[in-house]
Amino acid sequence: MNIKEIHIRYSEYDSQEQLSPEDRELALAAIRAAGNAYTPYSHFNVGAAIRLSGGEIVTGANQENMAFPSGLCAERTAMFHAASHHPDKAMETLALAAIQDGKLCPVPATPCGACRQVMAEYQSRGGRPMEILMVGAEKIWKFSRVDDMLPLIFDSLKNK
Ligand code: THU
Repeated sequence: MNIKEIHIRYSEYDSQEQLSPEDRELALAAIRAAGNAYTPYSHFNVGAAIRLSGGEIVTGANQENMAFPSGLCAERTAMFHAASHHPDKAMETLALAAIQDGKLCPVPATPCGACRQVMAEYQSRGGRPMEILMVGAEKIWKFSRVDDMLPLIFDSLKNK
């Protein structure tokens, strides 16, 4: 029997000023996109912004529904939009930000498991690492690839 360990690595920033100009622009786009969230049930507004290869930015916001599972997170809304409108472009960086009670959450919101699985698949389809930028008011976390957020991901189908 062997004990195995998996290490993950990410960068932490204390403010948006510490980000590169491109990442700062994407962070602001995610914050702005949260303004289009439809959240009558949770009142938790999430925005996501994706920089595509070529530089274009597409955004999404979480959309809720009275028939509860029918809504969708901001990240998947943005990714499905990107894949539907720009299928040949890789998703280089995805930023997300959550607004509660009118304020950017101090601690960065982290993507749910289903969104991570979808990120992993589009990363693989894009053929390059997808960076994830989680934007909080007091901290910003940056992952340089989806793998670090989802070790031992389900990808068995593609080996068949
Ligand atoms: N939500 C997102 O949009 N992204 C996340 O990363 C976590 C959760 C949404 C789903 C739901 O509309 C609300 O936040 C509360 O869970």
